[in-house]
Amino acid sequence: MADPDLMVGFDSNDDAAVYRIDENTALIQTVDIFPPVVDDAYTYGQIAAANALSDVYAMGGTPKLALNICCLPENLPDSTIREILRGGIDKVKEAGAVIAGGHTIQDHELKYGLSVTGFIKPSEVLTNNGVQPGDCLVLTKPIGTGILTTAAKVDLLSQESYECLVRSMAALNKDAAEIMGHWDVHACTDVTGFGLAGHTKEMVAGSGQTAVIDCRSVPVLPDAEAFASEGIIPAGAYRNRSYIEAFVKTQDVPLAKEDLMFDPQTSGGLLIALPAKDAANLTKAMGDQGIDAAVIGEILPFKEAEVIIK
Ligand code: CO
Ligand code: CO
Ligand code: CO
Repeated sequence: MADPDLMVGFDSNDDAAVYRIDENTALIQTVDIFPPVVDDAYTYGQIAAANALSDVYAMGGTPKLALNICCLPENLPDSTIREILRGGIDKVKEAGAVIAGGHTIQDHELKYGLSVTGFIKPSEVLTNNGVQPGDCLVLTKPIGTGILTTAAKVDLLSQESYECLVRSMAALNKDAAEIMGHWDVHACTDVTGFGLAGHTKEMVAGSGQTAVIDCRSVPVLPDAEAFASEGIIPAGAYRNRSYIEAFVKTQDVPLAKEDLMFDPQTSGGLLIALPAKDAANLTKAMGDQGIDAAVIGEILPFKEAEVIIK
């Protein structure tokens, strides 16, 4: 039986569940965990927390409460666990939320993440799928984290590019979400495991509209395109590609750029649809706050394919 107060649930592939408490308050609930993406334990904790908090920001909400989830191998040193948790706590603090407990189990592979609870006014909930013809798409972080973490694992990444990568993944989407709140945004999601093309596809799925991404305007992390052209591409990018290939058309896109579009992101930016007239102003307001945002495409009212990459 459907509960009329469940505003966003299972069936919409959205970032988080949303439950109306009363006309002024709805609860946002989300959970996200993953294995280490970097070697440093503290940094991993920060990134996992930033990623988990991001789904609340993507719904337009404010995170308030978080619970740790840890899957720990038996032989993992206590100091490593403490560092991971310290990274998580610091990010949650930065978000203005609190960690109120958690759960730990033994597992073969280390995984860490959070279940996050946030709040929002029911009338202000931003779902994935409210795009309208004439909207522009704005992305608030560069892409390429899957390719670069793959390169880092085999020690190919320069210190400088590694620092850029880590800074981007550990950055909260808090400021981007706050700025977004001042505009008439039609839809929002965050770019994570399905890659930019996959999450863009989710935004237009079933709407009878087409998202056109101009791949040359998509911000990319330093060295990500170079590694992509050398074939340093995570398995997830191929899975993403085969999963949504049927919905995507590409027009004269260099292969390395194409691979970037399917690259699975960790703690990626917000992908925002809003009226074209506001897109440049939103991007500028974000740039003023040090956010590397860009207008990357538009929504068109015809359906040649769900996503066109040109
Ligand atoms: Co999400
Ligand atoms: Co998520
Ligand atoms: Co959403």
